[in-house]
Formats: sequence, C-alpha cells, structure tokens
Amino acid sequence: MSQPFLRVDGLSVSYGGTLALKNVSLELVRGERLALIGESGSGKSTLAMAIAGLLPRQARQSGTIAFPSAPSGLRLGKDIGVVFQDPGGSLDPVMKIGDQIAEVIRAHEDTSWIAARVRAANLLDRVHIPKALSRLNSYPHEFSGGQRQRIALALALAGNPSLIIADELTSALDTVVQRHIVNLLDELVREDGLSLLFVTHDIALASERADQIAVLYRGEFVEAGPAAEVLGKPQHPYTKALIGTHLSLDTPRRKRLAEINPDSLNLP
Ligand SMILES: Nc1ncnc2c1ncn2[C@@H]1O[C@H](COP(=O)(O)OP(=O)(O)OP(=O)(O)O)[C@@H](O)[C@H]1O
Ligand SMILES: [Mg+2]
Repeated sequence: MSQPFLRVDGLSVSYGGTLALKNVSLELVRGERLALIGESGSGKSTLAMAIAGLLPRQARQSGTIAFPSAPSGLRLGKDIGVVFQDPGGSLDPVMKIGDQIAEVIRAHEDTSWIAARVRAANLLDRVHIPKALSRLNSYPHEFSGGQRQRIALALALAGNPSLIIADELTSALDTVVQRHIVNLLDELVREDGLSLLFVTHDIALASERADQIAVLYRGEFVEAGPAAEVLGKPQHPYTKALIGTHLSLDTPRRKRLAEINPDSLNLP
C-alpha cells in the first residue's frame, strides 16, 4: 500500500457559532483526483481552504491535516496550487501576466527574470493559451474569461505543486470551456502525477473525472469512497436523490446539485 499523500483526521471547523465542518476524515493518494460535492453551504470550500491552509483568521479548527510524505508540511503556492472560481481573485489587473507568473516562479526558485519569463511562456503554452510568448505582455482584461481561468491555473502551477485545489473552477464557464479546463486538469494529473482536489456542484463531472468522491451534507461526510462505489451504492438519501435526478434526465445532462432542494427530501 502506498502511503497517503494527504490525510485529514477528525477535522472540525467553526466560524463564530457556526460549525461548518464536523469531524471530517479523508485520505488522498498521490496522483488521485478527489471530488467534493454537496449543496451550497455544506462546507466544501471550508474543507478545501483548510487543506490549503487558507482559512480566515476567525475560523477555529480542530483535528489534523497531514502530508505524510512531507512531515514539515506543504507550502502554499509552491507545493499546493489553488485556483478559485473567480480568477479575478488570483490575477492582478494592473500587472502583465508574464510578470505575474514570473514573480511566482522567482518567489520559489533562485532564477533570473529571463529564465522565469521563459518558464512563464511555457506554462501559458501548457494551459493552451495561443501565442504564449507574445501574450506575456498582455494584461488580464485582454483575455477571455476562459483564458483567465487557464492563466489562473498556470499561476497555480508555477511553483511545481504536487497538489492542486480547484474550488468550482469551472462553474462560471460555458460547457465547452469547462470541458477544456477539465481535460487540462486531467492531463496535468496524468502527466505530472499531481493530486487534485476539486469542488463541484456537478455530479456528472464528479462521476466522470474523480477517482474518489466525498459528499458533504451540513458539514459532514455522508458518503466518501471510490467514485464507482459512491455512485453505485449511495447510502444517504441526499446522494440517492442527487444521482436519481441526474439519471432520470437526459437533458440537461449535467444536473446541478444546487438545483435540488434538500427541504423536499425529508432528510434528517
Ligand atoms: N468566512 C466565514 N465566516 C463565517 N461563516 C462562514 C465563512 N465561510 C463560510 N461560512 C459558513 O460555513 C458554512 C460552510 O460554508 P462553505 O463556504 O464551506 O460552503 P460551500 O459548500 O463551499 O458552499 P457553496 O457551494 O455555496 O460555495 C456556511 O454555513 C457558511 O455560511
Ligand atoms: Mg464554496
């Protein structure tokens, strides 16, 4: 058995009086893709941000988050790359994107500006930005929304991370661009042996693209395990409803979790 790359044990997080995560445990093996799904407010971002070490100051956390292969922990921006739904959050609007990416590279590596800019162009190429070299001097607003998402991903990759955390990376994009991004993430996992933790509302996406699925419901895991098992033998009524809704509808193919009203399910 290979040792897990990430181990979360009994993690609870509260914001003031609100308990957002209750005793959550999971393991992720290197090169695996884990999808976190659950309704709005179920704690997905809280868990993703806790793993990234990005919880806001007022959050109270108990339990452990460990990276057994790196006993002193992973460094955000270097070993862990994070991409948010809104790429505006990670891109500086008044800085050329080549400089932004080169700056991240130079923050982690002792390398010249020229070498860092060459690497930046390679990264842009890697995320399929056309004419990458000549786009180093463009500003974020000169790219499309889908391209900005890919640039945010390039930025997350700049430190050569071993874990990518993507929080609803694709939700705001049209389905064609979504597919490009998802394929790109798959490619990165396959070629670089990255681990991927992605948050989604989209059960179809999770079923197609994740090795492991964890379903959060009101701060707790109600399902967690290999994707085929969770989808094949759902235990919780919420998961069953979710899968049922998806399977009973041909179009739209991608039924969104957010569209299910949990109040109609008589859940505990
Ligand atoms: N910074 C914060 N301060 C106070 N409460 C917060 C904060 N962030 C999240 N919460 C609360 O924690 C709970 C979980 O929120 P979280 O953002 O993790 O949910 P989510 O599953 O990511 O939802 P969504 O799908 O809407 O993004 C919610 O009740 C939310 O209101
Ligand atoms: Mg969220």
